[in-house]
Amino acid sequence: MSRIRSATARRIYDSRGKETIEVRLETVEGVVGAVGAPSGASTGAHEVQALPKGGVAEALATFAERVAPALVGRATEDQSGWDATLHEVDGTPEFSRIGGNTATAASVALARTHAAATGQELWSVLRRPGVDGQTFPAIVGNCMNGGRHAIGGPEIQEFHAFSPAPRPADSVRAALAVHQRVGALLQKRLPGYALGRGDEGGWVAPLGNLEALEVLVDACTTVSAELHVPVYPGLDLAASEFFRDGRYRYRERSVDAEGQIAFLAELVDRFGLKFLEDPFQEEDYDSFAALTAAVGSKTLVVGDDLYTTSSARFEAGLARKTSNAILIKVNQVGTLTDTFRTVDLARRHGVGTVTSHRSGDLPDGWLAHVAVASGAAGLKCGLLGGERVAKLNELLRLGAATGA
Ligand code: PGA
Ligand code: ZN
Repeated sequence: MSRIRSATARRIYDSRGKETIEVRLETVEGVVGAVGAPSGASTGAHEVQALPKGGVAEALATFAERVAPALVGRATEDQSGWDATLHEVDGTPEFSRIGGNTATAASVALARTHAAATGQELWSVLRRPGVDGQTFPAIVGNCMNGGRHAIGGPEIQEFHAFSPAPRPADSVRAALAVHQRVGALLQKRLPGYALGRGDEGGWVAPLGNLEALEVLVDACTTVSAELHVPVYPGLDLAASEFFRDGRYRYRERSVDAEGQIAFLAELVDRFGLKFLEDPFQEEDYDSFAALTAAVGSKTLVVGDDLYTTSSARFEAGLARKTSNAILIKVNQVGTLTDTFRTVDLARRHGVGTVTSHRSGDLPDGWLAHVAVASGAAGLKCGLLGGERVAKLNELLRLGAATGA
């Protein structure tokens, strides 16, 4: 058994150039594990608070004064005790004193340190009951950005390539090929325009939602035919971001919840969508349930801002058959223990989990381990930029280790 000798925190920057926290742990034997916390932009209302009111400076001071003294001396194998201590030291339901980012970095850093101290892969330390580490998540890769992640793009926040090929080598290759193909199609369609890229590495172009979706569908069709690898279109609407006064406000029109259900059910049929995240605002369990009943046999219907990885919010959804999948983001709840409580609940009820990055992220691959350890249906991440590719490359490594 190994124990933590020192716990320190420092200020680092994420892929948006925003300040965040890295926690570094060292065992008495000198084994080191360090992890930085990612941050969202279209955060759900029910997520824990990323930083205390005084920002990173206050988070660092609190870590040194109150968090580190409570953690030093603990056994590396006691993840649940460690995470419980983070809650105790904080003392609020939303981590508003120590900050959810501090909790996330400290929680994942312990798992990483324990894995290193015991010579195990991180996924193996985190493995859920019944997971063999031989099956790999589909890639949900961001190809085009809109909403809060891009200026001048469509209202829909993310347009994804969804590749459920069983081997990471195939799914990663197919998703990347769709991203490249989308770029080429956009250049053809908008000659003379400067194309940009959004926070998650997807293309940004001055197109409407349907035009952007047509480009994505075209790219998916071509790539799956060329590579003989399945890859389908998917969307994260992040619909809370364009919901005001009871209506979903698109540039050219607005619809109520019923209109939104009809619009999305039509998109699923017309374009063969296989992944549909946050199609409604974050409190509307009923519309989620209606859409899942209508199209849940054809596509994943995924709750992100709806559940914010909270087991309590997810339980409320289970009772109402709200969705057939849930997005999992560790820093929405702040610890691995809280995260896996929700993952285990989903697994018991046959609801798929999709392990997700944040729009502000770091060049680190631990997320791929969380996905494999969860037996996740998908790994949602960007496709371009070092902080995105790090997760893909780590999944490739895990796949290669099993011959997949
Ligand atoms: P965020 O967005 O990381 O900016 O919250 C990602 C998402 O909505 O899935
Ligand atoms: Zn989302």
